[in-house]
Amino acid sequence: MPIVNTKEMFKKAYEGGYAIGAFNVNNMEIVQGIIAACKELNSPVILQVSGGARKYAHHAYLYNMVKAAEEESGLPIALHLDHGNSFELCKDCIDGGFTSVMIDGSHLPYEENVALTKKVVDYAHAHGVTVEGELGQLAGIEDEVNVSAENASYTDPDQVQDFVTRTGVDSLAIAIGTSHGAFKFKPGQKPQLRFDILQEVMDRLPGFPIVLHGASSVMPEYVAQINEFGGQMADAIGIPEDMLRQAASMAVCKINVDSDLRLALTAGIRKHLAENPGHFDPRQYLADGRANIAEVVSHKIKNVLGSEGKA
Ligand code: G3H
Ligand code: 13P
Ligand code: ZN
Repeated sequence: MPIVNTKEMFKKAYEGGYAIGAFNVNNMEIVQGIIAACKELNSPVILQVSGGARKYAHHAYLYNMVKAAEEESGLPIALHLDHGNSFELCKDCIDGGFTSVMIDGSHLPYEENVALTKKVVDYAHAHGVTVEGELGQLAGIEDEVNVSAENASYTDPDQVQDFVTRTGVDSLAIAIGTSHGAFKFKPGQKPQLRFDILQEVMDRLPGFPIVLHGASSVMPEYVAQINEFGGQMADAIGIPEDMLRQAASMAVCKINVDSDLRLALTAGIRKHLAENPGHFDPRQYLADGRANIAEVVSHKIKNVLGSEGKA
């Protein structure tokens, strides 16, 4: 099967009450770890590439690794641009073989977000590529996404129907209390998701796929492993798995995970090098990082996404 867009994946996920995992990829070991888990559990998957990942690894390397993953696994795999910040970047990815793009105009005034998103949709749909838009702003800091808690805002359910109708987007990322990065909530804070907003969005857009960004759980075992083997990560709390599972059973069809992969890869490498101080062959320590990536993805498929056996 060639790499696919998200249309069919989301239709099945919506109807089946599960979500597709969208995992950020930056190098070969991350791609291989994700695919190993998806193959074992026969799960569809979205491999997503940020602007920063594209700068780090180069479009052609990432594209061809994802093609290799599809050829080797035979799974339904979508190759998605994460947080596209301009028409030109989206066009480059579409021209270069991506099957799905996100145009993130969530920081723009509403009418500008509509205009930019529609421009991307028109180009993408003419090329068989699906488009994710965003309304509302998540807090959090990553390479190219940086929103302070004061500037974060929940999605206004009154805007979603107008936005989706006027832009023609295929899916919509909304802000209901998740946030980007490994430090979402401080110890003592109680994570809360606004299921009332999700329900209102669902009521206004029946059958329409919703996307959750910033959905890592900041898995404590990997934070602990990093700190046990020389790291200095402050304690952090992510999104509880039962909340994500509830969202997946509702209209959420795509759940984005990057930070949990970063933690798992780093934990595996740190542990390996601490236990084998004489090792310097990258294949030895990267293999342990890759195994941790597979473990995390397998855990998400079984406990959060519900996509096992849905390929
Ligand atoms: O939401 C953003 C993703 O986690 C990608 O992060 O821009 O640091 O590659 P990045
Ligand atoms: P996390 O930082 O919670 O993994 O979110 C990743 C994300 O939303 C990528 O777009
Ligand atoms: Zn994101």
